[in-house]
Amino acid sequence: MSDNQRLIIFDTTLRDGEQSPGASMTKDEKVRIARALEKLRVDVIEAGFPIASPGDFEAVKAVAETIKDSTVCALARALDKDIDRAGEALRNATSGRIHTFIATSPIHMEKKLRMTPDQVVEQAVHAVKRARQYTDDVEFSPEDAGRSDIDFLCRILEAVIDAGARTLNIPDTVGYAIPHQFGQTIATLRERIPNADKAIFSVHCHNDLGLAVANSLTAVRNGARQVECTINGLGERAGNASLEEVVMTVKVRQDLFDCQTGIDSTQIVPCSRLVSSITGFPIQPNKAIVGANAFAHESGIHQDGVLKHRETYEIMRAQDVGWNENRMVLGKHSGRNAFRMRLLELGVSFDSDEELNAAFSRFKDLADKKHEIFDEDLQALVTDATLDATNERLKLSSMRVCSETGEIPQAQITLVLDGEEIQGTASGGGPVDATFKAIESVIDTQTTLKLYSVNAITSGTDALGEVTVRLEKGGRIANGQGADTDIVIASAKAYINAVNKILQPRKREHPQQGDV
Ligand code: KIV
Ligand code: ZN
Repeated sequence: MSDNQRLIIFDTTLRDGEQSPGASMTKDEKVRIARALEKLRVDVIEAGFPIASPGDFEAVKAVAETIKDSTVCALARALDKDIDRAGEALRNATSGRIHTFIATSPIHMEKKLRMTPDQVVEQAVHAVKRARQYTDDVEFSPEDAGRSDIDFLCRILEAVIDAGARTLNIPDTVGYAIPHQFGQTIATLRERIPNADKAIFSVHCHNDLGLAVANSLTAVRNGARQVECTINGLGERAGNASLEEVVMTVKVRQDLFDCQTGIDSTQIVPCSRLVSSITGFPIQPNKAIVGANAFAHESGIHQDGVLKHRETYEIMRAQDVGWNENRMVLGKHSGRNAFRMRLLELGVSFDSDEELNAAFSRFKDLADKKHEIFDEDLQALVTDATLDATNERLKLSSMRVCSETGEIPQAQITLVLDGEEIQGTASGGGPVDATFKAIESVIDTQTTLKLYSVNAITSGTDALGEVTVRLEKGGRIANGQGADTDIVIASAKAYINAVNKILQPRKREHPQQGDV
């Protein structure tokens, strides 16, 4: 494949995806997702914004030190301190990229930056030169390009190419663009910028009008050769272009695209599930490619057609994107080694024997309750095990819930808060309501419950139930997850997980707020 035929997939789940309220991830969670992205064969993983907080710095550093087959990218505003921090986080990367940006739309330059266009060009050039001191692989984004003046874009992009930028990313930051117009913008930039051939054009589209994928693909048809996207379309506000939709459109409609990605599409569904379970953002059933109904045919006419000849109603095969029948992988008699090896195949490794032992003992408990253990169960179990492994202030010790016809459900719960055991009881409208109230009777978090959802991980009444709880306090949002064959226990675990996140003090800078 020639360079021009390769469509670079730049995944920003760990950076822009993490900017979705409540989607923040720990260092270990980021490393797990990064491993899954590497297995998916994404070309570039944007791991975070290192200047945001010491935790973000450590997470980018850990991803950079783990990933070998994808380039690891760090985001930096066009400021020396950001670029130096990004360079430092990437020091041990096998292949590292610095992505620096500054806003270029009149409204952002005037109201947010309070800078003149000349100052913006000067700062952009300076930032790119500084980033080049750390790596040859420098990407520049004119933020809010979708609302920027085309002449000014040509001017600043020409200048940053001369300064050493090798990728020019055109973001539709506020999701304002329309496909034909955005495609035309890419074509015009490529035509009018004299040194355009020295850089790869990239796009980064937000989904405020539901057009992120359409805009990205129209840009590709007009010569963009990198798409920035996220798993499940996660991202700020309505999200970013969804990786799975971009990748599969290019693959299925090769008649319309003169380029190809290097993605292993069979890893799409596992990766989507992992991101959903870690972030607590459920996947809507009718979501293209990765939704539970994406390949399900309800109507008799469709079913009949598919049985006679699959292509009557299906344009791609479910197994090509990683849907497979639930496969029993382990059982009650499987040993620690088989457990460890299977998880390794799923991209999960343990940092210590204690972590492995804790997860293995959960696996044994689960195998006692549930006959057949599938890959999905293992992933949920490990997410649950890593929840426990972290230094959480609040832990579930035991619980008892009574639910009886004609009686008000009662919950009794024993928690450990900062090492001290405390008990709470409450009644509620249902067993889950009573459980949450019992937790609150002990800790009084002053949070509001924003979302409660239960998802059966596999089929059968003995399936693990995966619960997501979203809590809000003073504008801050935290998602918690819990998995158990008993959904009331899973609910308690999810609630406690969300409470633990809310209890953590978190001071973190947002890349697109602040002075520059
Ligand atoms: O949406 C946006 O403009 C961004 C930039 C930082 C590239 O996320
Ligand atoms: Zn963005």
